[in-house]
Amino acid sequence: MLRFLGLILLSSSLFANDILLQPKSVLDVVSGKLMSSDVLIRDGKIVKVGPNIKTSQDTQVIQLKDVVLIPGLMDSHVHLIGDTSKKGYASIGNSTYFSTIHGVKNAYETLSSGFTTVRMVGAPEFADVALKQAIDEGTVKGPRLLVSGPPLGISGGHCDSNLFPYSKTALENTPHQIVDNPWDARKAVRINRKFGADLIKFCATGGVMSKNTDVNAKQFTYEEMEAIVSEAHNHGMKVAAHAHGLEGIKTAIRAGVDSIEHSSFIDYETIQLAIEKGTYLSMDIYVSDYILGEGAKKGILEESLEKERTVGKIQRMNFKQAVEAGAKITFGTDAGIFPHGENKKQFKYMVEWGMTPLQAIQAATINTAELFGVNDIGRIEEGYVADIVGTNGNPLDDITLLESVIFVMKEGEIILQ
Ligand code: ARG
Repeated sequence: MLRFLGLILLSSSLFANDILLQPKSVLDVVSGKLMSSDVLIRDGKIVKVGPNIKTSQDTQVIQLKDVVLIPGLMDSHVHLIGDTSKKGYASIGNSTYFSTIHGVKNAYETLSSGFTTVRMVGAPEFADVALKQAIDEGTVKGPRLLVSGPPLGISGGHCDSNLFPYSKTALENTPHQIVDNPWDARKAVRINRKFGADLIKFCATGGVMSKNTDVNAKQFTYEEMEAIVSEAHNHGMKVAAHAHGLEGIKTAIRAGVDSIEHSSFIDYETIQLAIEKGTYLSMDIYVSDYILGEGAKKGILEESLEKERTVGKIQRMNFKQAVEAGAKITFGTDAGIFPHGENKKQFKYMVEWGMTPLQAIQAATINTAELFGVNDIGRIEEGYVADIVGTNGNPLDDITLLESVIFVMKEGEIILQ
């Protein structure tokens, strides 16, 4: 009798957390087919996808009549730490503590707009590790995070901070991630790993937003890049290289990085090299319109706006070229320059510049999952984590439906409905 009772208790507790989603259809992101299926979720995982799934009386049934379900979206290039309304000199009074509090808000805005996993590629003082910890333990709500800690860079490079003159800079306090030889570069990788980084980010060229850097100039030699990559890979960490200029892009690909961020001045031959080496291209082709439209008001330096006027246009043309060549492309936006949650606006640009709607969705689901090295996210299939987003209609017919998702679930928890 006792045994029997135990069995009943066991089975009712087993099914107590079941949720059944009954949408109009589910998108298979691999084939692009819409399936008339329901989705059963237990303990944060998808346990069944198919028609007429049997439920117990404890199952919470959620009817989503006209909704098409797609996997939770992902962004491979964001900066959640920081007050997005202040740039350049306007932001220098902000402490890392203040920026991290903004990070909490930014994380929620990202998640509620449909992004269930994002990669943070550069944050001060391991504030990204702290945010990830708070999300993982459930203290605050945000997407699943992969974090890099402070990005590695050369003295005076895009990853250094160049806003102050020599007389106001204490060189002896140069942070550990500013390195100018292979051995210090290895040490910086080790320190980032020690304090909780999942991946390594470094700057292989100058940038748009940094003061006094040239987007075409390579930063780090091959030897330095190779040291970073081999040290990181030795610890099972992926490497993301910021690179606009061609020389920096080529050198970083040869050194073995996993993704090139921005990839602005990539050429045909280098796209082929990336394909050969399996390197992902993460191309933030929305942000240019924001920088040129809103940047001056937010404090972005005129020299940055001037660089953006060329970079943005060429990057979009090269995005098209990369799509046509069949390069591996991931969805990366540089959210943080623009307000978090606006990441979704980039889908339309990706379709305008050569992708099919399915390819754009794949870039933000299966491709990002592959780049992240995480194999149970990015699909609505049995055994995958229940990260699910719903649109009001078919996003393959109208990609802008992703700009107003009406259902968001992260690991079985309903965030938006
Ligand atoms: N963080 C990048 C940089 O400062 C942003 C580049 C934005 N522009 C672009 N067209 N993607 O270099």
